[in-house]
Amino acid sequence: MVLILSRSDLERVLDMGEVIHALEDAFKEKADGKAIMPVRSSVSTPSGTWFGVMPAFLGELNSFTTKIVSVQPKNFDRKLPTILASIALNDAESGELVALLEGSYITAMRTGALGGVAAKYLSRKDASSAGIFGAGVQARTQLVALKHVRNITRVLVYDPFVERAKDFSKEMSDKLGLKVDVSSSPSELLDESDIIVTVSTSKEPLFNGQDLKPGTHINAFGNFKPTERELDSETIRRSRVVVDDREAAFAEAGDLSFPINEGVITKDHIAADLGEVITGSKQARSSQEEITLFKSVGLGIQDCAASTLAYKKAVEMGVGTKVSL
Ligand SMILES: NC(=O)c1ccc[n+]([C@@H]2O[C@H](COP(=O)([O-])OP(=O)(O)OC[C@H]3O[C@@H](n4cnc5c(N)ncnc54)[C@H](O)[C@@H]3O)[C@@H](O)[C@H]2O)c1
Repeated sequence: MVLILSRSDLERVLDMGEVIHALEDAFKEKADGKAIMPVRSSVSTPSGTWFGVMPAFLGELNSFTTKIVSVQPKNFDRKLPTILASIALNDAESGELVALLEGSYITAMRTGALGGVAAKYLSRKDASSAGIFGAGVQARTQLVALKHVRNITRVLVYDPFVERAKDFSKEMSDKLGLKVDVSSSPSELLDESDIIVTVSTSKEPLFNGQDLKPGTHINAFGNFKPTERELDSETIRRSRVVVDDREAAFAEAGDLSFPINEGVITKDHIAADLGEVITGSKQARSSQEEITLFKSVGLGIQDCAASTLAYKKAVEMGVGTKVSL
């Protein structure tokens, strides 16, 4: 029998604090060299839909997952999410398919949770303000996760579609009991934020890296194509840069390939990957003044860890629909 987990099932079983822990464990396993995960394969269609196929194995969980994910920014006009996904979970021993999960919710939870893990290790412990570029789906879970790891009391959000920023401000103020305001400009957001999250669909740099305050931490999640970027070269040059995975980041992150191609940095500028920071083999932040930056392109082990957690909890709680295929 295969367990089908819908979005509402996943909303019942997944808790952000638990997903943060699951991802921390997955990145430790990656650092220990035990996770198996190729760089994803992708197809871009003539209409601009990007499809990625992301397999991953985590031995500690004995799980293998494959996510099929699409990104289509024009979906907003169709009243559909930009990112749509589905995930298959297989027993890694027998190969048997054990669950099919709605993947957009898992994606938002595992992406937000990774922002939480990165901020826990890299941001200043006294960070209390967050500034978010992009008021979409991922921005919401990024903020929920940040609140789990730092005492965030003030939030600014910037989006050129002001109505989206206003909706975000109202929804997240009500949900988290936080002061969430719409920012009038990128430079105001930079001035007033200890932690900056870039999670937009922009293809151009969102701000000028010269304007960054010392001590800022940046969680850069938005861009995943080598020909587009959210961050300018100055931001990367000024920052201690940690990535989710070197191979994937060099293959996919325009935020890194532009400054490398311009000769502003070399690949050695990347200080660590996140697993190395979590296990302590590489240093996280070295001073209160240092600017730190975590660049994520998104990895299959995140989906594997979050999906396995969801599956185990669903079985415990009797949630989901069993079908025989
Ligand atoms: N790293 C990862 O693992 C990961 C996972 C999921 C999504 N993403 C990426 O995160 C980004 C956001 O995804 P989403 O699902 O929230 O999309 P979304 O469409 O729900 O939201 C994106 C928002 O960005 C806004 N935006 C566009 N240009 C902007 C600019 N210049 N300044 C500020 N905001 C701007 C849009 O108006 C929109 O509100 C996408 O690029 C997506 O590919 C990364």
